[in-house]
Amino acid sequence: MGMRSEIMIEARNLAYYYPGEDETPVPALSGINLTVHRGEYIALLGPNGSGKTTLMKLFNALLAPSEGEVRVEGISTVDEERITEVRRYCGMIFQNPDNQLVATTVEEDIAFGLENLALPSPEIQNRVSGVAGLLGLEKLLQQPPHLLSGGEKQRVAIAGVLAMQPHCILMDEPTAMLDPAGRRDVIETVRRLNTEQGIAVIHVTHFPEEAVFADRVIILHRGSLIRQGPPKDVLSDLPLLHSIGLQGTAAVELAALLREDGFKLPPQIIHCRELVHSLCSSELKS
Ligand SMILES: Nc1ncnc2c1ncn2[C@@H]1O[C@H](COP(=O)(O)OP(=O)(O)O)[C@@H](O)[C@H]1O
Ligand SMILES: [Mg+2]
Repeated sequence: MGMRSEIMIEARNLAYYYPGEDETPVPALSGINLTVHRGEYIALLGPNGSGKTTLMKLFNALLAPSEGEVRVEGISTVDEERITEVRRYCGMIFQNPDNQLVATTVEEDIAFGLENLALPSPEIQNRVSGVAGLLGLEKLLQQPPHLLSGGEKQRVAIAGVLAMQPHCILMDEPTAMLDPAGRRDVIETVRRLNTEQGIAVIHVTHFPEEAVFADRVIILHRGSLIRQGPPKDVLSDLPLLHSIGLQGTAAVELAALLREDGFKLPPQIIHCRELVHSLCSSELKS
């Protein structure tokens, strides 16, 4: 077998300007250098307007860079002849599941992208039943998508992307429109695809709780990548998060309050489980 690069997506000196009124370009991203590795789970955090969606659209070849370049599996996203390949390697899930479901049944919806690839129909059947099994959608295949819950709709959207056998899934705030149960459903599904299928994930969110289990957390602010690192380092930096208008996880916020109150807690607590463990196991107050 040939050597497969460990690099899945590479952005070099990437910038993007939207065309503004009276021809003045509006900068949305600048100076972005970022490498996404095979099988990596990245959480991308940033306040509204920081450029998260723009970056995902550049990775998915929906937008072409104003400066610099993006390569997906070594293919430049401006290579017109290979744009469908880029989109197949890097599937995208959007915020609102209702805008992504197009067909009259779940089954047709999952098959939609495959039909466009003009695959033979037994292959389409195989893939649809494969991903339906993987995502627990077997019983919903004949349902009209509009009757599903929000979480189920997002799972169908994910199934449609998964059927394309992507190497990476880009998820742009996939839980923003969901209730807590739907949110858990989607997060568990995606984590499972990452750990069991080795699919790389870039998960855009402004819920820090959803970033706790990522391999790497990246923070965008006003179009720049201002911080990246392991969740423990980045998510425990409350002054940084607050300075750009983001909250910490419940555990980080509560640990900070308890420390102010004189409780001695170890640094870098980002998860409730760790906080409870520390609170239960130590001489707490000096
Ligand atoms: N279609 C557009 N035309 C002009 N400006 C845009 C457009 N879409 C986004 N922007 C601007 O680009 C910046 C980044 O937007 P976006 O990538 O949507 O951020 P986020 O997803 O982090 O909220 C913002 O300042 C936003 O106002
Ligand atoms: Mg956005």
